[in-house]
Amino acid sequence: MQKAKDDSDPLIKAAKIIKKGGLVIFPTETVYGLGANAFNVEAVKKIFKAKKQPTNNPLIVHIADKKDLRKVVANVPLLAKELIDNFWPGPLTIIFKKRLEIPLELTAGLDTVAVRLPNHALARSLIREAGVPIAAPSANISGRPSATEAIHAKKDFNGKNIFILSAEKTRLGIESTVINILVKPPVILREGAVSREELEKVIRIIEIRDKRQEVGDFKIISPGMRHCHYAPKIKLVLPQGDWQNSPKEISSLIEKYQNKKKRVGVLGTRENYQFYKKANRVIVLGSKKNINTCASNLFKSLRDFDRFADVDIIIAETFPEKDLGTAVMDRLTRAAGL
Ligand code: TXA
Ligand code: MG
Repeated sequence: MQKAKDDSDPLIKAAKIIKKGGLVIFPTETVYGLGANAFNVEAVKKIFKAKKQPTNNPLIVHIADKKDLRKVVANVPLLAKELIDNFWPGPLTIIFKKRLEIPLELTAGLDTVAVRLPNHALARSLIREAGVPIAAPSANISGRPSATEAIHAKKDFNGKNIFILSAEKTRLGIESTVINILVKPPVILREGAVSREELEKVIRIIEIRDKRQEVGDFKIISPGMRHCHYAPKIKLVLPQGDWQNSPKEISSLIEKYQNKKKRVGVLGTRENYQFYKKANRVIVLGSKKNINTCASNLFKSLRDFDRFADVDIIIAETFPEKDLGTAVMDRLTRAAGL
């Protein structure tokens, strides 16, 4: 006989909360998400409120299986099919024309919807068990670094009584890449865990959205991109000039700030540690030979500086803008408010 499904199983409990119109924090392979039933307007509104997210920043809809895409989008263009075949399940979010059932509150008034099929067994089981697509932004208070561990989300939403479906540290640690294929040429709206280089093996000619400009004749609307993001509470600065010179540049900046009686923190790679010896705290992201590890440690490291709270300013090493280095530089630039 099949065992009755009860609340002692966190997955069942989480799915019940979603069905009832509540919020759940859940893991994905990129970062933790703050989820609600994507078809339920009131539930979607709760996300914006809990996260203090501006209502002009649309959410991503998460599905568990490719067949469920039709429930949220009006049609699936050929280009999207190719991307889906190559990258789903995985950290690629694709923009589609939305179905009427997707509330405008979720899409910030746009007639498009961002959809992703996460490569995470627990996330997919939750969506299947809930029986509805799950709308979810990253599980952090708006503007803060994303949560790569359940404890980060717990801290941000402390006191809000939101159920956390916890799992281990997220594998990739940086958010999905957001691509719009409804325009020609396709545009990367947010660099993320799937690099431009990987995408270009499948579809050619991709523009990367100029952070502050419209691209070509198109008004590329991804409103969330305008806000200051990923920022630790402590001021973060980046060295000027080429990434290759950044360790040397940082070493003179340490002295400059310390002369002004500021305690300096450095976020850098293991190989360049020697340049940072005079800093008051150094957090090592990983080896510069492994940008994936550096990316996966980025948000935790930014949060750690806040947690230790023993420096007045953080200087971050810069990275070449290729592969995941592009996404890392995007996050660092935004964290620095540039
Ligand atoms: O990895 C991820 O993508 C994580 C996990 C939880 O799935 N989610 C995430 O969501 O990072 P969020 O809300 O932090 O970022 C969603 C991004 C924003 O930049 C938003 O502007 C963009 O997707 N977006 C959502 N809907 C859009 C739409 N219809 N058109 C253009 N951009 C859209
Ligand atoms: Mg986010």
